Order: sequence, then structure tokens, then C-alpha cells
Amino acid sequence: MASRDEIRGAGGAPRILLDNVSVSYATQRGRLLVVDRVSLAVDRAEFVVLVGPSGCGKSTILRAIAGLNAAESGIISVDGKKVDGPPEHIGFMFQRDTLLPWLTVRGNIEVGLELAGVPSAQRTTRIADLLTLLRLSEFHDAYPAQLSGGMRHRVSLGRMLAYQPAVMLMDEPFGALDFQTKAVMGRELLRIWETERRSILFVTHDIEEAVALADRVLVFSPRPARIVAEHRIDLARPRNLQQLRTDPAFTAYTSAIWETLGDGEPVSA
Ligand SMILES: Nc1ncnc2c1ncn2[C@@H]1O[C@H](COP(=O)(O)OP(=O)(O)OP(=O)(O)O)[C@@H](O)[C@H]1O
Ligand SMILES: [Mg+2]
Repeated sequence: MASRDEIRGAGGAPRILLDNVSVSYATQRGRLLVVDRVSLAVDRAEFVVLVGPSGCGKSTILRAIAGLNAAESGIISVDGKKVDGPPEHIGFMFQRDTLLPWLTVRGNIEVGLELAGVPSAQRTTRIADLLTLLRLSEFHDAYPAQLSGGMRHRVSLGRMLAYQPAVMLMDEPFGALDFQTKAVMGRELLRIWETERRSILFVTHDIEEAVALADRVLVFSPRPARIVAEHRIDLARPRNLQQLRTDPAFTAYTSAIWETLGDGEPVSA
């Protein structure tokens, strides 16, 4: 588990910092500019959500922070350290699940705990709790190929929640979940975030989900991704996700975000 200093961040630096970052890919048709001079900071214990049209470059930004894509220009740092490979204390939940096919549900979740160096006696309790939370207890010994898409997503989420890294990069983590599980997961993520003070950078196409979870929502343009708006969400915490939806302030935030998304293709889940 992360130490208190790791949770606070070194020297008060933002947990995540992007300064004028551009990323492009080499393709058959030449260089494709995907991220165009993006600057953003995620503070300690801050929950920041990215929204923007499909294909604009959101996953690319997360991958760059995780050290999986190199920035063409600009600087990315995590806890004040320049990123030039996967940083420590960072957890990544990919848009496509990356479960290990030769491990069971339990085994896939345990990988996170092994990485965090949790002794095996404690792992057993933690895994049992997570399996209950994720409604996967019955399938603890199933292999990924025997699960539905939503179940696989829940296992990926379990792997990350087990590890509880100081920085969580989450790429549409609830995208494939049914409404009920999504509500439970949202509540659980907020509970963990509120008690453990992690920094979260979260991508979604669900504007209501963005407002319900975030301290700030950053809206991106179509590719190449540029920040077109920033919305600070001043709704009291802890938040009750169900009650929120009937709060006029909540509706005002979602409308304002829709407006700044502009008349590009409406984003859908
Ligand atoms: N490895 C790659 N090589 C070449 N082009 C890529 C690669 N990965 C992504 N792209 C291109 O970069 C652009 C942005 O992709 P990215 O996955 O970052 O978008 P996104 O905003 O996450 O979209 P979505 O909301 O659909 O997940 C797209 O045009 C995509 O085709
Ligand atoms: Mg994506």
C-alpha cells in the first residue's frame, strides 16, 4: 500500500501534470496529430473527468500519462517526476480489459494485491470483500473466457481497487456495466476516493456520471484533442448519487457541459 507521503505527493507538486503536451501516431497515411498542446494538472485527492467526442484522443492522453505513449513535445510528470516509462503508484484501468486468460477471477484480482505486496492472509479477506462488492463471488473460479463483457469489466475494476494506487487512471471503467452495477460501482469508487484521498483521472461518455463524480470536468474538442472548457463541479460531498439527479444544480451542470461539447457528433455510451 502507498505510504502517507506517496498519498500526499512529493513536495506538494500536482499528482499529474501535463505541460503543453502533444502526441501523434505514425500511420500508413503519415503522422496523425491526436493530442494538441494540452496542459492540465490533477491535484492530490482530486477527481478529474475527461469528456469529448469518440476518437478525440482521451485514451491517448491516459496512455501517455501511464508512460505507454511518448509525448512528441511538452512535459508529463507524475508527482514531480518526468514520465519516461510506467510510473510507480499508478493504476490503469484500460478501456479494453486486459485480464490474464490463464488466471481465474480470483487470480486476476490477486495480481493487484501481489503488486502492492499485501501478505497472503490479508489478500484472502480483501478478495472476498471485493468479490462481494463486484457481485462476482459465485464466479470466483471462472476464467475470463467464461465471463460476460460486463463481468470482465468488473474483474478489471476489482484488480485496480485491490491495488488502490495513489493515482488511478480510469478509461471508461463503467462503460460496459448495467445501470444497477454502475450505480454501485460509482458509489464504491467515491467511498474509496473520499476515504483514501486518491487522485483520479477518469474518462467517460456519460455526462451525468461525469458531474456526479467529478471535482472538475474537462471537455475536449474533436481530434486533435484540445481542452475547450473546464467546469468546476461545486456540489457538496459526500454525494448521494441518486438524490443528485433531481438537484437543479446537477441538471444545470450537465446542460452546461453539453453546450461546451458543441455540435459535434453527440457522444453516446
Ligand atoms: N496505436 C495507434 N496507432 C495509430 N493511431 C491510433 C492509435 N491509437 C489511437 N489512434 C488514433 O488516435 C485517435 C484518438 O484515439 P483515442 O483512442 O485516444 O480516442 P478516444 O478519445 O479515447 O476515443 P473513444 O472515446 O472512442 O475511446 C483516433 O483517431 C485513433 O484512430
Ligand atoms: Mg478511448
